[in-house]
Amino acid sequence: MSYKEQIDKQNMPNHIAIIMDGNGRWAKEHNKPRVYGHKKGVLSVRDVVEGAGEIGLKHLTLYAFSTENWKRPKLEVTALMQLLVNTISKEADTLNKNNVKLTTIGDINSLPSNCRNELIKAISKTEKNTGLNLILALSYSSKWEIIEAVKNISKDVLEDKMNIEDIDENIIDDYLNTKGIPDPEFLIRTSGEHRISNFLLWQIAYAELLFSSKLWPDYRKEDLFEAIVNYQKRERRFGLTSEQINK
Ligand code: IPE
Ligand code: IPE
Ligand code: MG
Repeated sequence: MSYKEQIDKQNMPNHIAIIMDGNGRWAKEHNKPRVYGHKKGVLSVRDVVEGAGEIGLKHLTLYAFSTENWKRPKLEVTALMQLLVNTISKEADTLNKNNVKLTTIGDINSLPSNCRNELIKAISKTEKNTGLNLILALSYSSKWEIIEAVKNISKDVLEDKMNIEDIDENIIDDYLNTKGIPDPEFLIRTSGEHRISNFLLWQIAYAELLFSSKLWPDYRKEDLFEAIVNYQKRERRFGLTSEQINK
């Protein structure tokens, strides 16, 4: 039986987040410049998004560019931004046809204007779609997001729009970029690195983690299906005992 057939549709995670890592090392292994790895990585994005749609996943967040990634060599940053513009403009119609709704998290204002404009167009084109919610994390870092949330909460308290006593988990959820999106139950990172790299720190408080040794350009929808089958074998206890869960 294929991994896809093994997926239990009754026990699907609502939201999967992926740290797409390893493009540079993939390029190095193939004696190519790093940018070539990023280009190949786009094919993995396309395949994985298609796979997510096939199994009826509701939310998929892809970590595409971190706040820290701005510190990479200028040539690589420029090439990544150009790749983003080209990919969004090329894929927007296909996403729309497949009922995918595109959104972003991160500091979108820090992106070059052509990039931001292309994104805004694709977001508004797909905003009424009811299938997969594809969330691109761009110029995103969790600490940045939390700082923004703290600033905005403080502002609302100072302006008497909120009392300090009202601040709870739900309020914090509402001040994050991911407002309205359920927390990911499952986080995947490729390339064999075992770290979170400033991604969704608040939101993954209870996520199941899976680290794949595959480099991102080698990752395909079958790998996603296999990961989901793995996820479905786990017991999520949320602090309870196994006996409590299974009674
Ligand atoms: C992930 O691949 C893509 C981005 C961070 C933009 P990397 O570029 O980090 O690839 P490695 O980790 O150097 O192999
Ligand atoms: C994390 O990958 C960010 C993205 C995948 C966009 P990095 O390659 O930037 O992470 P570190 O620096 O190795 O932790
Ligand atoms: Mg990396």
